Amino acid sequence: MSEQPDTNPFNLHDTRVPRFIYGTAWKEQATSELTLKALNNGFTAIDTANQRKHYYEEGVGEALQNFYQTSGTSREDLYLQTKFTYAEGQDNRLPYNPKVDTKEQVEQSFLSSLEHLKTDYLDAHLLHGPSQSHGLSDRDFEVWEAMENFYRSGHIKLLGISNVNHDQLEYLSHHAAIKPMLVQNRCFARTGWDANIRELCHRHDIHYQGFSLLTANTPMFEKPEFQAIMTRTGLTGPQVIFQAALKMGMIVLTGTSDTEHMQQDLHCLQTLLTNEEVTLIEQMMV
Ligand SMILES: NC(=O)c1ccc[n+]([C@@H]2O[C@H](COP(=O)([O-])OP(=O)(O)OC[C@H]3O[C@@H](n4cnc5c(N)ncnc54)[C@H](OP(=O)(O)O)[C@@H]3O)[C@@H](O)[C@H]2O)c1
Repeated sequence: MSEQPDTNPFNLHDTRVPRFIYGTAWKEQATSELTLKALNNGFTAIDTANQRKHYYEEGVGEALQNFYQTSGTSREDLYLQTKFTYAEGQDNRLPYNPKVDTKEQVEQSFLSSLEHLKTDYLDAHLLHGPSQSHGLSDRDFEVWEAMENFYRSGHIKLLGISNVNHDQLEYLSHHAAIKPMLVQNRCFARTGWDANIRELCHRHDIHYQGFSLLTANTPMFEKPEFQAIMTRTGLTGPQVIFQAALKMGMIVLTGTSDTEHMQQDLHCLQTLLTNEEVTLIEQMMV
């Protein structure tokens, strides 16, 4: 018998964090329509970024307004997270003046996110990625301190960091006045599903969000032992991966555009996998 995981949202510092998050990257002019479709299909958590190069945050805001009006729900029923992105990760459509100091850039980006998303608080705000590949710079700490200020004033419920390596996360966890509560990382099977970061998250009581779970790991579908799990459970390859990730304790991001896939993805919360199958998948290197 498989042991059923808790399908309820995580409760993190009194904020409800759903285990499945709808990601809105790369949807451009379809952002509003697809976000609304995801909400209508049952997603209650949305991930975006104030980075016009890859996200259209205003489109997410349009979908939210539309959803509140048509569904009778309100802001408090949803979990919204967005990110601050350095100018190096942006195109010329910056959500802040690049000439002001870092702290003010974060403030401008944050306030513009609130305006785009038509809200006065965020469930989570993430630093999209450190400014350098090794270690953390003074600039990273300036960003973090600006985010901490919004956390203290109650405008951000949870602080997070994305695209972070082990040493950076360890350092931030030891040196920040307010520790990171969320990590959002690319999750490859060949790194043991980001095993060392997940272990660190576990030690520091940080919740781990995984993306690229499908895009990075589809060669797994060819493995006979993986196919045996699909046959036994009747699940598709993507569903097996998402169920395994959820059972490993991750919060899962999906950016599907397809209605059937949205429903299949949310059904993953009711897992059919045994602990042995999850361990097998966790140890598969592709
Ligand atoms: N922090 C960062 O730097 C960062 C970077 C990348 C992504 N993200 C976040 O993570 C989100 C997800 O991005 P991702 O990289 O994981 O990729 P993704 O945009 O979710 O794309 C994955 C692919 O999976 C397919 N898919 C989803 N569910 C499926 C199912 N049940 N069956 C078959 N195919 C399925 C989708 O195709 P269909 O559309 O046909 O279903 C899509 O082609 C983004 O939108 C963004 O919010 C963050």
